[in-house]
Amino acid sequence: MLHKNLRKLFADFWREKNHKEVPPIPLVPQNDPTTLFTGSGMQQLVPYLLGEHHPLGNRLYNIQPCFRSQDILEIGDNRHTTFFEMMGNWSLGDYFKKEQLSWFWEFLTKILGFEKEKLYVTIFDGDKKNNLNSDNESKNIWRQIGVADDHIFSYGPLKNWWSRAGEPSLMPEGEPGGPDSEVFYDFGEELGLHEKSIFKDKKCHPNCDCGRFMEIGNSVFMQFKKTKNGFEELPKKNVDFGGGLERILSALNNNSDVYLTDVYLPIIENLEKTLLKKYENEEDKRKMRIIADHLKGAVFLIKTGVFPSNKERGYYLRRLLRRITIKTYQLKGKTVEAKDFFGAVEEIIKIYEDIYFERNDLSNIQEIIKEEIDKFNKTLNKGMSILLKMSRPDGKKIFDLYQSYGFPKELSEEILREKGLEFSQKEFDSEFEKHRQLSRTASAGIFKGGLADHSRNTLRYHTATHLIHQALFDVFGESIRQEGSHITGERLRFDFFSAIKIDEEKIKKVEEIINKKIKEKIPVSFVFLDKKEAYKIGAKSFFREKYPEKVKVYYIGQSLETAYSKEFCGGPHVKNTQEIGEIKIYKLEKIGTNIYRIYAK
Ligand code: ALA
Repeated sequence: MLHKNLRKLFADFWREKNHKEVPPIPLVPQNDPTTLFTGSGMQQLVPYLLGEHHPLGNRLYNIQPCFRSQDILEIGDNRHTTFFEMMGNWSLGDYFKKEQLSWFWEFLTKILGFEKEKLYVTIFDGDKKNNLNSDNESKNIWRQIGVADDHIFSYGPLKNWWSRAGEPSLMPEGEPGGPDSEVFYDFGEELGLHEKSIFKDKKCHPNCDCGRFMEIGNSVFMQFKKTKNGFEELPKKNVDFGGGLERILSALNNNSDVYLTDVYLPIIENLEKTLLKKYENEEDKRKMRIIADHLKGAVFLIKTGVFPSNKERGYYLRRLLRRITIKTYQLKGKTVEAKDFFGAVEEIIKIYEDIYFERNDLSNIQEIIKEEIDKFNKTLNKGMSILLKMSRPDGKKIFDLYQSYGFPKELSEEILREKGLEFSQKEFDSEFEKHRQLSRTASAGIFKGGLADHSRNTLRYHTATHLIHQALFDVFGESIRQEGSHITGERLRFDFFSAIKIDEEKIKKVEEIINKKIKEKIPVSFVFLDKKEAYKIGAKSFFREKYPEKVKVYYIGQSLETAYSKEFCGGPHVKNTQEIGEIKIYKLEKIGTNIYRIYAK
């Protein structure tokens, strides 16, 4: 099946069951410092899972682009990818287990035509430590649906509990979560080694990592919230379903390699042509998958406005592009020029044209990739010459090479081996661990991963950026264009383009307007609108983003018609401007031609 058909079947199915499409949010949540990347469809729905009323109703679905940065090092097998699309449906206190499991089963067996014997299901086995019971209800429902007992497996909280933070004990207070029930497709063929089995008498089982089974959908029964005193029932029993589009396609192809579905194959075929390598033996396949995955991830991140840098999101983009360079080097035994990847980039854009990209995105994306890869190629060659000069390599030197040049351990190992040299792995690992501890502490704040603790300050700063945006328009007129923004708990930063010269005096005026609006105690609300309609009423958007057909618009005013500010935005925000307190713009910088940066507290 082709991805465009699957998208349509999925949307038609849920619409038929009275679900409304909730617009997907950008891959990089704007103005949300607590989240690096959108990692699941439910991310935008947290307030509603916790009890708030959703304006589109209580039955929702969508297809959400996701990026899971923690998966970078897992890429290379037949099913992990950093970028993927999650097909999701939600019940916000409406239907629950019985409908969800039977409907998903109906979608799989009737609409997609999967044979029942090829599908296995899993359920939650309970968690004594946290006083959580086994999910016998789901087990019975699966039996009634007609799933045989030997196709139903039970697992503990590590596998069959879902929250953004993982298993129950890892969840912070306030975070919603619940038991889940997954469906796996059986490819019938064991591809790798069996993971140590949790079942004494079974060699292989759905969650074994040998590649025989692939998870194609996860129904989470979001019915709990973690509190100081353990788990509390939420006011509503919700369903949060997510299934990977790429994986379902792969199961439909009856081929366990997601890189052979039509959302990857054109990329792989292009790489075969340009790199003169066949997608054949396991080792080469691994490298080609990494290159294909990372290119796609990079193309999507760049499209969302990320630039390669040494910090946060930009750093992930940089890592992707560097790993592409390194894997190509390993594959070919020499560096290749960035423009050799241009064809593959074009294929990526073609695959998703009309969904996420337009034709004219191509040259900008290619340009950014070229600059970064060509720069890194030089570094790679430099690292190589340092390595070749080493007569007595030790683990620390190899780690330094890795740390300063991004030069991978395996590559050093391979090259040294050819010279008949080796280094101490233990020393390398201990340096690595030391460094990891350091960077973990440094990034603890941001890797909280957008959990429910949207701190009050963040909300206040977030709403303040909307006021700044509009006040800049009031003072400097139409040419103002937001270039980016960044919020920490202590301050906000706002970057913008202005054709008119900006000076401190006029910025004072902007500050005055903002504080006046704060004192007026104006309510902050949102609506969902058709994109065209939103542009028509003058809602501000972030020009780098391609928005979906339906968008969320936040407005600051008594009504949408009379609002002072209207902006495309996923939220969240304060409920009233008075919560912001007083704003002080304490620094103005010119950071480029006609580009300015202000800081405010
Ligand atoms: N939110 C669930 C997941 O990401 C459906 O697996």
